[in-house]
Amino acid sequence: MSDKAKLNFDNNEYEFQVIVGSEKEKAIDVSSLRSEANLITIDPGFKNTGSCRSSITFLDGEKGILRYRGYSIEDLAENASFLEVAFLLIYGQLPNESELNKFLDDINENSIVDEDLKKILESFPKSAHPMGILSSLTSALIAFNPEKKISLNNSYNSDHDLMYNSIVKLLAKIPILVAWVHRRRKGLPLEYGDYNLGYVDNITKMMFQLPNQDYVKNNVIVNAMNKLLILHADHEQNCSTSTVRIVGSSEASLFASVSAGISALWGRLHGGANQAVLEMLEAIKNDGGDTKKFMVKAKDKNDPFRLMGFGHRVYKNFDPRARIIKKAAHDVLKDLGIDDPILKIAKSLEKEALNDPYFTSRKLYPNVDFYSGIIYKALKIPKEMFTVMFALGRVPGWIAHWREMRMNNDPIGRPRQVYTGENRRSFVPINKR
Ligand code: SDX
Repeated sequence: MSDKAKLNFDNNEYEFQVIVGSEKEKAIDVSSLRSEANLITIDPGFKNTGSCRSSITFLDGEKGILRYRGYSIEDLAENASFLEVAFLLIYGQLPNESELNKFLDDINENSIVDEDLKKILESFPKSAHPMGILSSLTSALIAFNPEKKISLNNSYNSDHDLMYNSIVKLLAKIPILVAWVHRRRKGLPLEYGDYNLGYVDNITKMMFQLPNQDYVKNNVIVNAMNKLLILHADHEQNCSTSTVRIVGSSEASLFASVSAGISALWGRLHGGANQAVLEMLEAIKNDGGDTKKFMVKAKDKNDPFRLMGFGHRVYKNFDPRARIIKKAAHDVLKDLGIDDPILKIAKSLEKEALNDPYFTSRKLYPNVDFYSGIIYKALKIPKEMFTVMFALGRVPGWIAHWREMRMNNDPIGRPRQVYTGENRRSFVPINKR
């Protein structure tokens, strides 16, 4: 197999290096294309363009494979804790017991949010979408936790310590912000958790504990949260992670980069799809449950309706996360004794789509967002909070990619373009237009 790619253009031949990844993926390195051939590439949505080398997550869209640092998502979802997975994604190895305990201790030491942040939270109108609030509060954290400039060029540990401090602060404070956004919507007091509990157990306590009542751990809920957070923890160069990397490439801080990632995730074509899926399923239910009618709408090019939770840029087979979540949805509803007609509607939609040439020919299968909302609903999380739960899970992945980009000293992201506007023309005074 050649390690070069040839390009013939304008009676010239150019040769470019082909790089091969550890899973045998191949890429043409076009970093010298403009200087050698005075050409650029164009690829709207970057469907065929790699932005970086990364060792964090591997996806095989054809085979439905997802691995975090080499560990399969199935293995991790079944056996790991979310905090172990966060450590794995960020530092590359599963922690031993003392590393994990120190990680949790350092996070707990930072699990206080400045009281003035409560005032900022309380200043939002009740109608404000939780994703907008979370993005704003994450950015506001910078004001209360000014991050010293991290240079990493020198070998002093202080820079790596500075980075570690930012990382544990974010892992400490985001769950509190998520819990407080949820509690404010419910009119519950903004309280802290109990740092003797595990990381996810404490998130559950902070979100759901009612005033003047002891917190009683519900293993079904904590295990479901743990699994959902792991399944959302990273997904290589998706829209929001690419946003975090490009914002961070200007040496913007971790908090500022993650705040931008939260905004990117909000869109309904990305993380916002989990809320849109539940709204779609509820609309089908309220319309009498006729899934066939909505399938026709999804296939009609003149109808803006899309089957939310279906399709994926990378997975052209099943999304392994959707398979795990579908089973978890069934188990959680059974364990909680909930018979939700929404699950039946979801399953019949999936069955119809998987037998419909429009979907199979376009390789459109359920993605991570199709079933997740059914579990969040069973956990009594309002649908406006679904994408916030996605963001909570994705924080370790965003941190891992921001850190990798800085450690690799990746250049500032600045794509080129093909200009299609007016050619040079002279200014015309307003009285002559
Ligand atoms: C996430 O990238 C990631 O890794 C993301 C994510 C992560 O973990 O970070 O996995 C999380 O964002 C999952 C995706 C959640 N979004 C949705 O469920 C929204 C519904 N899906 C689509 O909007 C769409 O499938 C995307 C955005 C997910 C992917 O879009 P692409 O890859 O740009 O594909 P496309 O829009 O070009 O669609 C190809 C064809 C088109 O038809 P034709 O023009 O060929 O006739 O498939 C059709 C589309 O119209 N199509 C759909 C469809 N999705 C694609 N038709 C109906 N319903 C759909 N859901």
